[in-house]
Formats: sequence, structure tokens, C-alpha cells
Amino acid sequence: MPEKIDPIAYYDSQASVFASQASDKSANRFEYEKNMPSLLTLIDTFSGDVLDFGCGAGNFTAMLQRQDRVVDGSDTSPRLLDIARQNYPSIDFISSSSDGRVETNKKYNLVVAKLVFHYIIDLDTVLANLNTQLEAGGHLVFSVPHPDKTQHHFPSAVEEGEYVDEVGNFGLTLTMIHRTLGKLSTLLTDNGFGLVDLVAVCDEEKPKRLNVLAKKL
Ligand SMILES: C[S@@+](CC[C@H](N)C(=O)[O-])C[C@H]1O[C@@H](n2cnc3c(N)ncnc32)[C@H](O)[C@@H]1O
Repeated sequence: MPEKIDPIAYYDSQASVFASQASDKSANRFEYEKNMPSLLTLIDTFSGDVLDFGCGAGNFTAMLQRQDRVVDGSDTSPRLLDIARQNYPSIDFISSSSDGRVETNKKYNLVVAKLVFHYIIDLDTVLANLNTQLEAGGHLVFSVPHPDKTQHHFPSAVEEGEYVDEVGNFGLTLTMIHRTLGKLSTLLTDNGFGLVDLVAVCDEEKPKRLNVLAKKL
């Protein structure tokens, strides 16, 4: 079995490596050319206060900005938050704890979580906390590795399970969580969200990302 590595500690210790890789548009072609445009289309009609939860180095946070939005970023990694603040000084970057509590009293119209939830073991608690961070009728949009792809780490069908895999081009492995759409839907419903829309983003015709839009009920 490969060694288990805690994602929160990993992203903080590798912050500068991750930040430079995350801004490399050719190394991350799929993200920049397919996944980010898909997410931006999904949230095109939303304005107001927006939180990019698990914002990393803030590259996507900056892409969410528009004249009719005020966008903040949050992350568990102090080092990534420092890099994000240096790169995008006009954006507020805020600390969050591992259970999804963001250090602000502000309520948001939209919370975005791009490639974060598959690192979170207790997603139930994080969704409950994010729900309290949203205004009534606010929306949550998230992007996770597509379950058809992550299912391959298991010998038979499972609703939810931990797997260990390499991330990006770092040459390192991390512990991640596979969840089926059914499991994600149950977690959303249990935490006061209703499913609004789903998009499978494909790479060479195979689903690579699952992007989900949900509404606070
Ligand atoms: C793959 S990176 C994605 C960063 C950014 N959203 C993007 O797409 O470029 C995962 C991010 O999730 C953060 N993270 C991991 N566990 C978290 C948690 N429990 N709560 C909030 N952020 C978390 C990491 O620090 C890291 O910045």
C-alpha cells in the first residue's frame, strides 16, 4: 500500500510548487480549456458575493471576478493564502478550518469549490458549514474527479471509498475520496441543498470531471 499523505499538510508544505504548476496553462490544459470554462458557464447567471472555497493559489478565484461580483477566496493552507494574496492583492483571501468553517461573518450568494471535496473525508460536516455560509437561496457549485474514473481504484462498485493516487505532475501521491453521484446527492440533501444541474466534462470522450450546481433550500 502506498503511504497515506494528509492533503491539508501536503498542500501547505508544497505551496510554491503547486502554485507555479497551477498557473501553467499548458501543463493544465484540460483545466484551463475545458473544466474552468464549464464551471464559468454553469455559474454565468450568478452575481453578488462569491466565495472560492479551497482556492489554492487564487488563479480560479481571479477568473470568477466580474463587475457584478465581489469574490473572496478561502483555504486551509496559510502558505497558499500568502501566495494568493501576493498574486491578487485586490482579493480578500481568508483562512478556513478543515471542517469548512471560514473565518468570516460574511454570507455568500455563491460558493465555488473546484477540486477540493475529493480531499475531504468528512464532507457531511463541511457541507453543513458551507450551508451556513450561504445566503437563503444561495448556490454551491463544485468540481470533483468524475466517479466513473475514480471507481477504477476499486475492484467492485462502491458508493464512497478512500484511494491513493498521484496528483498533477508533482510525482507525489495523496489520499482522496471516491464518491458516486448517488452518494454526493445524499450528502447534499442531508445538508439542506437541492441538486440543480450536473455536467460531465470529458477528455477524449471519457468523463474526467463532474461539475455539480446545487441550491440552498
Ligand atoms: C487541487 S487544489 C485546488 C485549488 C484550486 N481550487 C484550483 O482549482 O486551482 C486543492 C485545494 O484544496 C485545499 N484543501 C484541502 N483540504 C481542504 C479542506 N478541508 N478545506 C478547505 N480547503 C482544503 C488545499 O489546500 C488546496 O488549496
